[in-house]
Amino acid sequence: MNFLVLPLLFLLATSTATASRLLPNPIHLFGPDSASEGHHVAGSLDCLSWRLAVEMNNLRNWDTIPEECDIYVGHYMLGHQYPSDCKLVADVAYDYAKGLELTGDGKDAWIFDVDDTCLSNAPYYYVDNTYKAKAYNKTEFVEWELKGEAPAVPGIVDLYDKLLELGFKIIFITGKSETTLRNITEYNMKNVGFHTWEKLILRETSEASLDKVEYKSKKRGEIVADGYRIWGNMGDQWSDLLGDNPGNRTFKLPMPMFYLK
Ligand SMILES: *[C@@H]1O[C@H](CO)[C@@H](O)[C@H](O)[C@H]1NC(C)=O
Ligand SMILES: *[C@@H]1O[C@H](CO)[C@@H](O)[C@H](O)[C@H]1NC(C)=O
Ligand SMILES: *[C@@H]1O[C@H](CO)[C@@H](O)[C@H](O)[C@H]1NC(C)=O
Repeated sequence: MNFLVLPLLFLLATSTATASRLLPNPIHLFGPDSASEGHHVAGSLDCLSWRLAVEMNNLRNWDTIPEECDIYVGHYMLGHQYPSDCKLVADVAYDYAKGLELTGDGKDAWIFDVDDTCLSNAPYYYVDNTYKAKAYNKTEFVEWELKGEAPAVPGIVDLYDKLLELGFKIIFITGKSETTLRNITEYNMKNVGFHTWEKLILRETSEASLDKVEYKSKKRGEIVADGYRIWGNMGDQWSDLLGDNPGNRTFKLPMPMFYLK
């Protein structure tokens, strides 16, 4: 029991009349950042409802976080909830993976997206740990990518290690540019723990005009044509998981910072 609870119980027992006035919001007991991560109504918009609608792909094609939920999303990303949500997705994926009977012919594949599935771009959006997200700016985002300093998304290196142990061939598919970002992406991936892979597929210049779902479907089609079985497919965007050959199971990581159209 949290040590804070004891004085609160004492307060409750001795002074029920004034307790409601003296008690802080009980949600504070669970951690300094949790109040901002919980049920939070800013103006007319309930930010938890907004985030849920985003994750379920009911709300689509939005450009920026609604202004009144900006700080809420900042707390979600930088507090304990985002790591906790990611780790649960990783646990569920592992439970599924370990129950499968692989053939051992080297064609049992698991697909991961890269940005915000393996490598986190939260430091780009939350410069200096301010809770307000920086606006996306392509020039500055590429500068950030070229630093090769993205940390791993919580829980995913651990899942990746376990999938390798189970015998999966790991295939990364990313919309990052083959011509300008392969080297730094390989460096960044290895640096945070993704040390080996069957394929790391980046977007060719000739594929620039494909939309996200078309591009990912095309790449998965090529993988299946090569004889691989896609057992699992994990991404932070719905465009990673929709389209052709999505895989026997898909896993959606949380991502309230942006929506890739
Ligand atoms: C994007 O960032 C670049 C480099 O910092 C800057 O010159 C440009 O004005 C920015 N664009 C927008 C639309 O803010
Ligand atoms: C990528 O790195 C390799 C060595 O690791 C180097 O030979 C090559 O020139 C680099 N390519 C680019 C485009 O930076
Ligand atoms: C996996 O998906 C493929 C393609 O849809 C299907 O043929 C196969 O039966 C599925 N396997 C299992 C175990 O669900």
